[in-house]
Amino acid sequence: MPHSPVRLAIAGGHRGASFGNAINALGEKIELVAICDPAETARAKWLSANPSLTAYDDFDRMLDDPRIDAVFIATPMPLHAQQAIRALKAGKHVLSEVIAAVTLEECWELVETVEKTGLTYMMAENYCYRRETMFVRNMADQGAFGDITFAEGAYIHDCRDLNLNADGTRTWRGNLRAGNSQLSRGNGYPTHSLGPVAQWLGINRTDRLLRTTTFVKKSAARHEWARHVLPEGHPDADPAAWENSADSASTIIQTEQGRVISLRFDSASPRPHNMVHYGLQGTKGAFMSRRHDDEDPLVWLDGVSPGVSPANFRHKGMARPANHESIGYPRWQVLWEMSEKYEHPAWKSQGDEAVRSGHGGGDFFVLQDFATAISNGTPPPIDVYDAVTWSSITPLSIQSVAAHGVPMDIPNFKR
Ligand SMILES: NC(=O)c1ccc[n+]([C@@H]2O[C@H](COP(=O)([O-])OP(=O)(O)OC[C@H]3O[C@@H](n4cnc5c(N)ncnc54)[C@H](O)[C@@H]3O)[C@@H](O)[C@H]2O)c1
Repeated sequence: MPHSPVRLAIAGGHRGASFGNAINALGEKIELVAICDPAETARAKWLSANPSLTAYDDFDRMLDDPRIDAVFIATPMPLHAQQAIRALKAGKHVLSEVIAAVTLEECWELVETVEKTGLTYMMAENYCYRRETMFVRNMADQGAFGDITFAEGAYIHDCRDLNLNADGTRTWRGNLRAGNSQLSRGNGYPTHSLGPVAQWLGINRTDRLLRTTTFVKKSAARHEWARHVLPEGHPDADPAAWENSADSASTIIQTEQGRVISLRFDSASPRPHNMVHYGLQGTKGAFMSRRHDDEDPLVWLDGVSPGVSPANFRHKGMARPANHESIGYPRWQVLWEMSEKYEHPAWKSQGDEAVRSGHGGGDFFVLQDFATAISNGTPPPIDVYDAVTWSSITPLSIQSVAAHGVPMDIPNFKR
């Protein structure tokens, strides 16, 4: 028997509104019934597109509405964990934007609340659903790379123009005092880079994150931007106003199985934005994402792709198999050439529909998996343990930086 659609409310009308197309495409599974935003302009925009919605200006009042089954929290990052906890306690399933929590205490409280209520909690890490990240996950699951030894991910996106409002005040992203870890001396936004990589490595399934260290670069580019856009004499045009921040962070994580993950986060350095920065190395091959939007991702698989490795043929007299040299030097292949065997089944069957919904297809699959988990009573693919494990890199990185790079133990949230 078909399930009735999950009745959803969205809190946070900016990012939340970008899910409109995906909700329309998933009409049989999800019905948007309410929205919540304290900003009148955000509510008015929703209502002009969809007058039948109930609009709330207060999150907790919205939670009293018995028609709502689930809440998508797309509010400023420092609010996510506490709003998720309140929604779960009010009996609502929760889909949370990234990152799930900004302190370790919040991570634990979130885990305990999900365990106590038994409701569905999923983190909306849409980068896990991009075509290439799901493609590589499918390859990793099938053993195409052999034993994976190293993986990397980066989120490099100049977001300095999101720090200051037109009137010169700081936005939540620009305000460290509002608990916004994105501006902190640490890795303030790790899940876009870590999420896909953690899935490739089976983190929280067959492997576990053990310890992590982070180093940050000095704060240099933020005040240059501030000086560029603020009137002379404005306190935030002074370098001292940004000195407790960092332009960029480099994080290393070791796993229980002896793998290493490298993450980079940079939200302040000027350069064009491209969404994907990933790499993976296994004992049978490697993956390298494209450097910019006009390139394709690359892959090389031992025995499948052209050439052999190692291939230092100019060194003569080395121990090598007899026909080794005749096979030739290894050459990267475009990832999509392996579509027939490794395209993820979800992208094979629904890729076009997902892409039409926007944002690289990720929003469509996130919402679909959330609704399916609720309707079927099955665990969501990115559950609370994944959400807090990936998000915990933020508070742990801040601690590591404060301790001059000392590695921090990563809690085992699954206990
Ligand atoms: N996954 C992604 O690719 C992606 C992309 C963009 C943003 N995000 C995340 O989405 C969240 C929102 O980002 P944004 O760009 O929309 O921020 P934004 O500042 O542009 O918008 C935030 C909205 O939330 C509203 N809001 C503030 N407090 C609220 C409350 N208590 N209840 C309900 N609404 C409230 C604000 O009025 C505003 O309309 C952030 O956590 C961000 O990290 C994720």
